[in-house]
Amino acid sequence: MSPELSDDFDMPPRVVTGDADADERAVESALRPTRLDELVGQVRVRDQLDLVLQAARRRGTAPDHVLLSGPPGLGKTTLALIIGAEMSAPVRVTSGPAIQHAGDLAAILSSLAEGEVLFLDEIHRMSRPAEEMLYLAMEDFRVDVVVGKGPGATAIPLELPRFTLVGATTRSGLLPAPLRDRFGFTAHLDFYSPEELDQLLHRSARLLGLELHQAASTEIAGRSRGTPRIANRLLRRVRDWAQVHGEGVIDLAAARAALELYDVDEAGLDRLDRAVLQALCTRFGGGPVGLATLAVSVGEETETVETVVEPFLVREGLLLRTPRGRAATPQAWAHLGLTPPRPAAGTSAQLNLLEESADGTLGVDVDVPPSGSDRFR
Ligand SMILES: Nc1ncnc2c1ncn2[C@@H]1O[C@H](COP(=O)(O)OP(=O)(O)OP(=O)(O)O)[C@@H](O)[C@H]1O
Ligand SMILES: [Mg+2]
Repeated sequence: MSPELSDDFDMPPRVVTGDADADERAVESALRPTRLDELVGQVRVRDQLDLVLQAARRRGTAPDHVLLSGPPGLGKTTLALIIGAEMSAPVRVTSGPAIQHAGDLAAILSSLAEGEVLFLDEIHRMSRPAEEMLYLAMEDFRVDVVVGKGPGATAIPLELPRFTLVGATTRSGLLPAPLRDRFGFTAHLDFYSPEELDQLLHRSARLLGLELHQAASTEIAGRSRGTPRIANRLLRRVRDWAQVHGEGVIDLAAARAALELYDVDEAGLDRLDRAVLQALCTRFGGGPVGLATLAVSVGEETETVETVVEPFLVREGLLLRTPRGRAATPQAWAHLGLTPPRPAAGTSAQLNLLEESADGTLGVDVDVPPSGSDRFR
């Protein structure tokens, strides 16, 4: 898990980050669906998983190992706990970084009960030797415990009960293929639609005993970046506002005022996101400009801009990563209420071409003038 931003950088905690700190995780558990039919959205994953679990229940065995992947805050931990609940099985929770030695893993595995669910969060951060032990455990329900050192060392095989491993990762690309292949069921969680987030907000409001107007829910859902964790967080901030400034009822005015206070705009962009776009458009004529230059111009670390700001801007089609640097799309200009230098359409076509050739070959030699606001004149 990436460290909380506020610790690393001199800026207030972001209200639109998909990550959560320990306090927030504690608050979240109250809003976590506990059964599959309470889950909002992810219909495909829910139906597939339902089938896997029902079949296992009929057979009276532990279900296949399950791999859950997807960005932070979309429901991986939630689903892992639901699997335990649906199987009426206890869930043992651990995480990749907690397992540094194969022995740590052996200790956990050998203490599992029949049918137990082992939830291994951030599975991509497990150590190599532990990973290899896991291969055997997943496939043959066995571990080889090595006793002694040097030439006298012997491996004692240890039978394990049938358990279900539920692995979660935000970086499925980092998982070695042999590990990925050992999961019988893999689910990739996608961002939620505004309608799904709207449903989720009504559910959370009900659980928190809040009166939430439809217009307010729609407003919050639209600014939540497709992420349940952000939607629930914005709901809590709007609730605070409504309780301090109003009657506690969450209406459109409360939602707008609170979100404005927290600097979250209609598209879910916060101050830093907009600062990056603004710099890109007004100081560098829309780019392309190098990442380092762009970062310095907003007073941030390169890494923050690259990993914290850009993914959402790229996803929203506001920013392009090209081999020659970062470039604003026509939507970015429109979002900021600015007029792009002429001709915007040509720019984007040209830059798209560059982006597509970003596989290292870069065969197309497109002449992009140096950045500067007068480059298209
Ligand atoms: N499908 C859903 N329906 C209702 N609430 C959800 C759903 N998915 C997530 N949530 C809510 O969002 C919060 C965050 O979800 P969760 O902790 O499962 O995310 P995660 O994918 O495990 O994130 P991380 O990668 O940071 O561990 C939960 O507390 C839960 O309240
Ligand atoms: Mg989680």
